[in-house]
Amino acid sequence: MSPTEPITVPNVALAGHKLLVLGIETSCDETAAAVVARTPGGGTEILSNVILSQIAEHAAFGGVVPEIAARAHVEALDGIVRAALIEAGVTLDAIDAVAATVGPGLVGGLLVGAMTGKAIAAARGLPFVAVNHLEGHALSPRLSDAIAYPYLLLLVSGGHSQILLVRGLGDYERWGSTIDDALGEAFDKTAKLLSLPHPGGPSVEKLAAKGDPKRFTLPRPMKGEARLDFSFSGLKTALRLVAEANAPLSDQDVADLCAGFQLAAAETVADRVRRALSRFREAFPDLADPVLGVAGGVGANQAIRAALVAECRAAGARLVAPPLVLCGDNGAMIAYAGLERFEAGRTDPLDVAVRSRWPLDEKSAPLVGHGRRGAKA
Ligand code: KG4
Ligand code: ZN
Repeated sequence: MSPTEPITVPNVALAGHKLLVLGIETSCDETAAAVVARTPGGGTEILSNVILSQIAEHAAFGGVVPEIAARAHVEALDGIVRAALIEAGVTLDAIDAVAATVGPGLVGGLLVGAMTGKAIAAARGLPFVAVNHLEGHALSPRLSDAIAYPYLLLLVSGGHSQILLVRGLGDYERWGSTIDDALGEAFDKTAKLLSLPHPGGPSVEKLAAKGDPKRFTLPRPMKGEARLDFSFSGLKTALRLVAEANAPLSDQDVADLCAGFQLAAAETVADRVRRALSRFREAFPDLADPVLGVAGGVGANQAIRAALVAECRAAGARLVAPPLVLCGDNGAMIAYAGLERFEAGRTDPLDVAVRSRWPLDEKSAPLVGHGRRGAKA
């Protein structure tokens, strides 16, 4: 066998052993590794999930600097992989497959994670699984709650705002996407404009709790439109104009702007999701348990979660929002996507290349505007 051919091993979980996958994530500013297991009964266990955030390294720049990110991944990754194995209580001898994010994302970081994963796989003679970071997010509601295919997914992160139909492993249909900024990006830019610490989402959410969401009138972009796309740049501009008109801003002004922005974001997402849920219910009228899954860092926002709960209740669907640690970037979701792929016999050769852009649904029209950015997923 050539060293670049995929290696297939028997499904040992079926033979009464746990199947263990090591997952590596380095596509943006989190260095992460995890071990996820499939139990002989078909259950899933997260044995470890170690995440090192580079927030401090990038704080002075108000965003992620690709070169700094890549160097930080190189320095940290070996230790993070070791920590994931120790926390899981296993050595590499127990691992059945190695999965790493190979795209989309920042190329420098992707190379570090992919090379490390491939090196471990080559040294140990293990199968390698090249994981799409977005698939990691898309499958995280299956990792946390073992939901069945098909389901509807809202993916809202720093680089993406998408509504996807998840039909099965590797079978995705993009129903809507942002035509400009991603939702997390809009939170981050709002925070920057108001001189709040990066990452913006948690900063805005914290101050919004002290603010009056009704004081300033902000737009609800795309509200009522039949297509399922998002747009956030108009909201961002409206917020900037209000901030400028009220300068200098008091602490209460800033809190009120955060609250107004968060409410506008939540109502906008709710409007899009309402339409998507009705299309989903029409497409699958016989589903016993229709589910909307939410994934991506913005899925941690409690106001957005509350709006999604209300929409699901009205549509007779169930919201599955994974715990916060599985919403942001993490290694467990990559290990899990690798596990599903490995079980399906979909491993990859060791010469598979990293991809800065890699849409989940390659058949959909190419994204326009910032929505096509691969830098943050
Ligand atoms: O999925 P993620 O950790 O990284 C990628 O973008 O791949 O998402 C990060 C994004 C950032 O834009 C961050 O500001 C946003 O998620 N975020 C939040 C919250 N926590 C993180 N946005 C709103 N509310 C939050 N609590
Ligand atoms: Zn992500």
